Parts: sequence; structure tokens; C-alpha cells
Amino acid sequence: MTLNFSCKIIALGNLPTSVEDKFKSNFTHFKSYDLEHCTNNLDDVLQKHSDSEVVISFLCHKLDCQRLSFMPKLKVIANYAVGFDNIDIEAATKKNILVLNTPDVLSEATADLAFALTLAISRKINEGHKFICQNKWQSLTMNMFLGQAISRKTIGIIGLGRIGKIYAKRFLGFDVKILYTKKNKNVDLVFDEKHNARQVELDELLRQSDIVSIHCPLNNDTYHLIDANNLKKLKPNCILINTARGSVIEEPALIKVLQENRIFGAGLDVFENEPAVPTALKNLDNVVMTPHIGSADANTREAMGNLLYNGLLAIIEGKIPQNVVNKSDDHWSKCI
Ligand code: GLV
Ligand code: GLV
Repeated sequence: MTLNFSCKIIALGNLPTSVEDKFKSNFTHFKSYDLEHCTNNLDDVLQKHSDSEVVISFLCHKLDCQRLSFMPKLKVIANYAVGFDNIDIEAATKKNILVLNTPDVLSEATADLAFALTLAISRKINEGHKFICQNKWQSLTMNMFLGQAISRKTIGIIGLGRIGKIYAKRFLGFDVKILYTKKNKNVDLVFDEKHNARQVELDELLRQSDIVSIHCPLNNDTYHLIDANNLKKLKPNCILINTARGSVIEEPALIKVLQENRIFGAGLDVFENEPAVPTALKNLDNVVMTPHIGSADANTREAMGNLLYNGLLAIIEGKIPQNVVNKSDDHWSKCI
């Protein structure tokens, strides 16, 4: 691959200032756009920069086969996220484009948010907050906002990857039992023992857990994994947390379940059609929502930017960075 410091780089959204400064001072052709808020003119921008060799993309930028063909010289897509369901990886691979993502550095931040949503729902923090702000608090009564304990409960983790493992670790002080699923079914006895954890089938996880948290990527296998039928398996007091991708859950079916109070509540950071969130969800009391901010702490966002920057430097030096998504020796030799 003939990438060097005069390659044409286009960033489709805002990077942390320190990272953007590095790109600007070390690469002669770096241009950034603020297309995070309005992706309507994405096609125009890509066509205008059809000679780009590197694109820094964000989750809101769907890079499908057609859009990739707008940039025939494209060699690297640096996706500012760990998930890469916004990119047609197969098409990118066929076009000898390397795709970089930002694993590991955001695992703690995302697990923390999942944990925060778990506690917020279990103790009705959001409902209590609204109650005070709406000036409804008139007296101290013993049956207001009765929540649920977390201690000694069964926690179900769908997708025990990097983030799921840290979410499990967050419960170490709560004497919980953990059930989990993961794609590669390798047994990790050390993890299991330390976390009082056991690998199970999804069906058992859904039926047995008091809290179910989703940490798998979105792909053909996980699209609507939690559909109406699987939602039926949840315990009546179950808390469902999603900080992965909205479309892992069949959103209309979840809304129905919440409206009918068939589970205790849901903590959602991700939605099927972001940034649009169904009004029905906004009207529910048994939901806490955040606007897809799993990795949103300043240090994490900076680390994500640096990971992409360093990945690009490695490619320029002819090395394979750790964070290449479509890595295979064959593909690499075609790209390089
Ligand atoms: C966020 O959702 C990410 O994939 O990084
Ligand atoms: C998910 O992508 C993870 O890092 O666990």
C-alpha cells in the first residue's frame, strides 16, 4: 500500500481537538466535515472528495457499496467506533480497503454506562428525578418508587466479549450469579470462577436472569435476536439493558412489553432508527434512555481517536495494526 503523509484524508465528523491537531500537523491533506448532525449531504461530500485515500467515519455514516464506489482511491476506512455495522465490510474487502475500528479503549466506558442504566432502572432513579422536577413530591411515603435489589440476583450477559466481561466485573461487589452467551464457546474457567459465571444457551439466559444486558455486535446473526418471542421468555421483574445496537432488539415488540408492564423496565442507550426515538418510548416511565453515549467520556473519545491515528501510522510503516477489522494475510498483501 502506498500510503504516506501526503495522502488525502477526509474526516466526516469532529475528532477530539488533540487528535485533530495531530492529523492536521502531520498530514498535508486532511480535511474535516461536521457531518455527524446532518448526513443528508454525505453523498455530495464523498463525491467531492472522490480522490480520498482515507476516510474517518462515524456510526451515522452508512458506507455501503455504492458510497464506497464514489472513492475509487480509498485504501483505509477508520471508523470511530468499535462497532462497524455501518460499513459494508464485504464490499470494502473486495475493494482492498482496510477497515479500522476502536476496540478495547472504550470497553470500560461502555460497561460503565450499562451498569449505570442497570442501577438507574432498578432503583427508579429517573422516575424519582422527574417526580421532584414536576413538583409532585408532597410527603414522605414508604411505598413510593419501590425498586429492586441487585444483590444476589442473576445477571444475564448476551455477548461476553471485551465489554461484556467488564460489565460482569462491575458486579463483583454484589454477590450475583452470572449467566452468559458468547460467540466462540471456549470455556474460560478462570473467568467463570472469579465471577460466579456460567456459559448457557440464550433460552436459559433469558428465562433465568433478573437483569439481561446486551453486549454483542449487530450482524446478520444478531439482528432482532431479542424479538417478540424471546421477549416473552423474560421474567416479569426482568430489567433489560441495551448499550450495543438498537436493532439487536425488535423495538416495536419491546415497546409493547414495556407498555404492558411485562418486565420491570429497560435501560436503552441505542435505538433502531437513531437519532429518532419512538414517542411511545418517551412516554413510558419504566425506561431510562441515553442518546448513544456508551463511549462518551473525554478520555475514552481521545483514546479512540489516537487508536485510529496510530493505526494509520502503522499502515504507513507497512505494519498491520491490531485494530484492522478485515484482516487476513491474503487481503493484507493485496492492500499493501
Ligand atoms: C459505539 O456504539 C461503538 O460501536 O463504538
Ligand atoms: C464488543 O465489540 C466488545 O469489544 O466487546
